[in-house]
Formats: sequence, structure tokens, C-alpha cells
Amino acid sequence: MKAYRFPEGFNWGTATASYQIEGGKGGRAPCIWDAFCKTEGRVVNGDNGDLACDHFTLYKEDVKIMKDMGLKNYRLSIAMPRIFPGGQGPANEEGIAFYNGLIDCLLDAGITPCVTLYHWDLPLELEMEHGGWQNYITVERFLEYAEVCFERFGDRVKSWLTFNEPWCAAVLGYGNGEMAPGCTSSDAVKVYRAGHHMLLGHARAVEIYRKKFRTAQNGVIGVTLNCNWTEPKPSDDPETAKLNAEAAERSVLWNLGWFADPVYKGDYPEVMRNRCGDRLPEFTADEKALLKGSSDFFGLNHYSTDYAEDDSGPGHYVSHWGTVNTGGFWGDMAVRGSTDPSWAKTDMGWPIVPWGFRKLLLWIQARYSPEGGIQVTENGAAVNEPTVDLAVDDKARIVYYEGYLKEMHAAIQLGADVRAYYAWSFMDNFEWAYGYSKRFGLVHVDYNTMKRTPKSSLKWFSKVLSTNTLER
Ligand code: NOJ
Repeated sequence: MKAYRFPEGFNWGTATASYQIEGGKGGRAPCIWDAFCKTEGRVVNGDNGDLACDHFTLYKEDVKIMKDMGLKNYRLSIAMPRIFPGGQGPANEEGIAFYNGLIDCLLDAGITPCVTLYHWDLPLELEMEHGGWQNYITVERFLEYAEVCFERFGDRVKSWLTFNEPWCAAVLGYGNGEMAPGCTSSDAVKVYRAGHHMLLGHARAVEIYRKKFRTAQNGVIGVTLNCNWTEPKPSDDPETAKLNAEAAERSVLWNLGWFADPVYKGDYPEVMRNRCGDRLPEFTADEKALLKGSSDFFGLNHYSTDYAEDDSGPGHYVSHWGTVNTGGFWGDMAVRGSTDPSWAKTDMGWPIVPWGFRKLLLWIQARYSPEGGIQVTENGAAVNEPTVDLAVDDKARIVYYEGYLKEMHAAIQLGADVRAYYAWSFMDNFEWAYGYSKRFGLVHVDYNTMKRTPKSSLKWFSKVLSTNTLER
């Protein structure tokens, strides 16, 4: 057994999101996910977030489990439809009171909250009335909402994330319709427009925070982006190998660079601008200046690795949700994704490739050298646990985490400035289009009784964070 010690002061945490755990009690208005869930055939088993884990009622019990495991950091999200039920102010005091209770409870337990403002639960009103992220009005409403959150919670919340995975919200929400609001766009115009608006929403929310709140509140703010690592598909033919290497780089740029380049360099990656032409919106000079430097740290959600192959045809991407996508967004990227038969997979069907994590962290470090370091705001595995007995003995999840943490440790040794790691997820929850059929939690949730049962992985993770060391 070897011990991998992490840098002094490394921050360990777990993560969740409002729609996935809270349920709809307490005056939360419908969001785009409520409508999506109620559309037949969209979500496995017709599941929905009406009750979810009923965290709204049981949050004190959940925080107690966190405290007992010695957790020091917890990433949660605020539901915009609780604060702005109709998509705009004035703020709903019942919603404010819920988050005040939760934040205070966390602080009392010695747990530092990291709060995401937008984790996909857009008030339905904004989608129905204005077309959601297709319309700049949504950005304005988001900014008003963000300001309310800074004002009402910023005395205690010192770490903010504007958006969670804008890639998913834009591509899966407006490109292939796998996620709410379920729109499609064969020429990808809606995808790029949604992404553009989220980027502007991010940059302007950060501007508001820095100008109006930072001095008094003294917190940090950023955005969190999702990315699989893409490895060039091996080929004996040097020309093909070269094209695949270019395709793999293109893929990371299309997934991560699309958002990270504007935030760190002030504009979209050149390859995107060249290949998309005027379907990719342009930033004004002022917007570029606002975007550049708009994150105090690099937020990353990472789960898996794919092979990338050059595809000069319409592109070919088997999404994490199993559908095959071509044309539009994927045609622009011109990458054919695939997997290696030797790679084991999680219950989501996502390849378990820990070294891909190391490569991605080093890629981020090399391209962006983020000043405030990298915070891994999600990483974890779904395991098939139909019964609580199987769940409490979740060796497969521990094996996944061990592999990924070991590679994160290696990346740090090689120069990646990683400063935080949040396991996804604190507890089993509503896994979007998969409903409750996939379990990512360190805590098992019985959805009939709402009983929480800590899994072996919770005990294991608790040891990692208390010793700041991975033993493997
Ligand atoms: C990404 C999302 O942020 C989170 O909501 C989701 O449950 C996990 N990854 C797993 O798919």
C-alpha cells in the first residue's frame, strides 16, 4: 500500500444540485425540468423532481451526516425558481428563508458552502415567455437574481459559481434535446446562442459581484465547466494518427475551450470561429474585456475519457445518454468519438479512464495557467445498486475514486495547481434524463421512505479528507 499525500490546505468536499435533491415544497415555482419530466418519453420511468430526496424537509438530517463524516466543504446550488418563482423579482422570502436555514446549518456544522447560481433549473416562465437562454432577457433576469443572492447570502457564502456546465445546458438543452428545455437545432445556431448568453450572464454576474459586493464580502467567484478527456484514437498510419491528434485537440477545445477561452483569453477558440462562421455569435470589444479574467479559479467537472477520430463528414457523437448525434454542432466539430473495448465502464456506460483525468488537468494548466488554481467541482461514478445492501458495500465506487484521485495526485506532482476536489455526489439523487435509475451518492437514498444510509464509499472518503491522503 502506498500513501499519496495532497498539498497542505487542499479542500475536499461533496456536491449536489437543487433540482436533483430538494423537491418542490416551499413555494418553488415550476422550472424547465418540471415541464420536461412531464413530457412523455423524456425521462426514464417518467421520473421527476417533485419530491426528489426531499432535502427541503430533511436538510438538517443531511447536514448532520456531512458533519459526522468530517466534511469541510459542500457544493450546493440555489434554485432560481425558489427565489424568482415567476422568473423575476421581487424575491420570494420563503425561498430566501430556506437557503438561510441551510447555509446557517452548514456553517454551524463547520462546513463551508460553495454555491452554484445556475444548475439548470430555469424558471419555466422564462422559457415559455421568452425562449429561455435564446433570449437576452433571460440574462437580465439571471443577473437580477444573482444580485439578490449576493445581497442576501454573500455575508456567509464566500465561494460562488455562476453556471454549472453551460456546455450541457446549451448542447443537450438546445441542440439534441436530451435535456430541458428539450429543443433541437440542426444548424447549431441555438446551441451557440445559448452558450453565448450564458457566457455573458457569467461575465456580468462576476462584474456585479466584484463591483458591488467583493470589498465587503471578500469571496471568490467562477464558473464550472465539464469536459471529458479525448485521446487520439491510435492508428498505425502516421497521417491518420496526426489527423486524430488534431481531432482530439479540437474536441477538447469544442467542449472546454468554447467557454474557457473566452473566460481566460477573451474570445472563442480560433478553430471554432473558423469552422462555425457567423453561426457563432461575436463578442464586442467591451464584452471581450469583461470576459477575460472573469473567473477567480478554474472550475472543472470531469468523469470520463473518449477516443477521438477525425471525421470530415457530419461528425458522429454517441452522447453519454446513448443517442447518436451527427450534423449541427457535431458536424462543426468533425470528430468521431468512440471508446476502447478494454476500458471498464460505470453504470452510466461512461469509460473509467483515470489517466485521462491527469492529462486533462495538465492540459488545463498548460493552456490557461489559472491564477486561482483548479477546483474539481465534480467527479464520481454511478454504480448499479438496486438494493440498499448492494449500496452499502459499494466497492466499485471506491475503486473509481481511488483511480481518479491517484491520477489527480500525479497531475499535482507534475505541476497542475489543483486546490479542491468535490465528490459527486453527497447522496443519490435525480440524475436528469435518467431519473432515479442511476445512483452517484456516497449516501444511499431509499426513495420510498426517504431513509438515508451511508455507503462504504462515504467512510472511505471521510478517511481521505481527514488524513488529506489517499492510501492505495
Ligand atoms: C454533471 C452535472 O453537473 C450533475 O448535475 C450530474 O448529476 C452529474 N454530472 C452526473 O451526470
